[in-house]
Amino acid sequence: MVINKAGFGHQGEFLAVEWARWNDLIGLNMLALTDLSYRLGRHLRDHGERSYLVNIASIGAYQPVPNFAVYAASKASVRDFSEAIAFELGGGKLSVTCVCPGATRTEFADAAGMKLNAMADAAMQSSESCVREALSATFAGRRLVVTGALNKVITFLTRFSPRWLSARLAERSMRPLS
Ligand SMILES: NC(=O)c1ccc[n+]([C@@H]2O[C@H](COP(=O)([O-])OP(=O)(O)OC[C@H]3O[C@@H](n4cnc5c(N)ncnc54)[C@H](OP(=O)(O)O)[C@@H]3O)[C@@H](O)[C@H]2O)c1
Repeated sequence: MVINKAGFGHQGEFLAVEWARWNDLIGLNMLALTDLSYRLGRHLRDHGERSYLVNIASIGAYQPVPNFAVYAASKASVRDFSEAIAFELGGGKLSVTCVCPGATRTEFADAAGMKLNAMADAAMQSSESCVREALSATFAGRRLVVTGALNKVITFLTRFSPRWLSARLAERSMRPLS
């Protein structure tokens, strides 16, 4: 099993942040993940009885997210890429699962420079529960899993929401605390 979980976000307006930060983010979240999926994916496909490639995206993959634009776009890429190769490999020894967590209690928010209010903090999923759901979906051979009940509802509703409205709501929820 290979789990591509390394990734970080950065909260801030696209043009207000140094390019080097976006370059690093794209390099890790997209380039490194795709590179490792290729190299280790070939190894997994050709060795062993049953193997699993797990790529961590985010519910940010479901809509544009102002003030988190590059991160959300990187995760949309992870989701589309992972689902596409899961279809390519369908039925083989290697299965690919894309995991989309929402806010989860890890070091992520600190690393992204996010300041969460008490309600947002309380709504976070525990990392243990997130991992349990992710592994259960992986071993069931599912192509995509959104972890956490609230996150499942949010991502389901994006199917019926115009993109501008989803972006507006995402902007509200990600607006930095002043
Ligand atoms: N927590 C959330 O709310 C949340 C929500 C949606 C998606 N995700 C995704 O979940 C994944 C795991 O994040 P997390 O929540 O566990 O956050 P985390 O606690 O901050 O862990 C981030 C991980 O990425 C690694 N990493 C960061 N920068 C790196 C770099 N430049 N090169 C190599 N490795 C680097 C870190 O390694 P070190 O420990 O060595 O620094 C660490 O293992 C990420 O892909 C993130 O985008 C998280």
